[in-house]
Amino acid sequence: MKRAYDDERLARSYESGNEMPDEALRAWVGLIGSYVGSAAASGASASGDRPAPDVLEVGSGTGMFAAAMAQWIDGANVLGVDASEAMLSEARRHHPHPAVRYAHGTAESLPAADDAFDLALLSRVIHHFPDRAAAARELARVLRPGGTVVVRTTFKERLDAVVYDYWPPLRATDALRFPAMDDVTAAFTAAGFDVREIRSFTQPVTRSLRDYHARMTTQPQSKFDLLTPAQFSSGLDRLAAAADREPYDDPAPVDERYDVAVFTLR
Ligand SMILES: C[S@@+](CC[C@H](N)C(=O)[O-])C[C@H]1O[C@@H](n2cnc3c(N)ncnc32)[C@H](O)[C@@H]1O
Repeated sequence: MKRAYDDERLARSYESGNEMPDEALRAWVGLIGSYVGSAAASGASASGDRPAPDVLEVGSGTGMFAAAMAQWIDGANVLGVDASEAMLSEARRHHPHPAVRYAHGTAESLPAADDAFDLALLSRVIHHFPDRAAAARELARVLRPGGTVVVRTTFKERLDAVVYDYWPPLRATDALRFPAMDDVTAAFTAAGFDVREIRSFTQPVTRSLRDYHARMTTQPQSKFDLLTPAQFSSGLDRLAAAADREPYDDPAPVDERYDVAVFTLR
């Protein structure tokens, strides 16, 4: 089956359409990295306390998070796995890093040995998995006991992104695409994980509505494929009009809130 990100156009537009201000990326990595070492605190094995944590990103896309984790999580070695060769070649081009390796694979069949990682990040990918339960079991195989999975996603109960203000039909299509919180926690607990934390985290994705409009012109996410061309262009017109009204000398950053679910392997 062809996956959304096998599309080379989408792979090429993904990087510029999804990058975020450095401070925002750093804040995200600060949050994700704070779960390294959480295992000992919760009484499990000391997997997360290793001085040089082994980190896996499943669905690493163009490598923005993989390289940022290598840069900002002390001593981290990162494996970025993606099912799309087109995305992997964008990652190698945009985000090479000496402590990051990119490899082809799927969440359901990871190219990694048993007990190899302390931390795994799944950012904006869990809704693409054809078999979430199999992916959770595979993560239980490759993580060390006490290791942590951080799921950065949108739960379908909380569809509040700015994108719906301009493309209201996406709310209904996203309600069908995104998982419910209980479905995600059920998959991980059945695979041997404990729920450590479920929270929200919000950071700016662009510095202004004008920047947000500029990035949306390239349709940088797979969800836009579900709109007709007329729906896409009328939403873009509404966004352009709102961006035009924004004062040049007082732009407002555009924030995005994500759900973050954190699981620790028993
Ligand atoms: C929306 S992008 C997210 C990229 C990155 N994690 C981020 O947050 O910017 C989703 C990525 O997951 C990959 N993907 C989709 N299904 C996958 C699967 N079953 N296993 C591994 N990667 C997958 C896609 O190829 C794509 O690169």
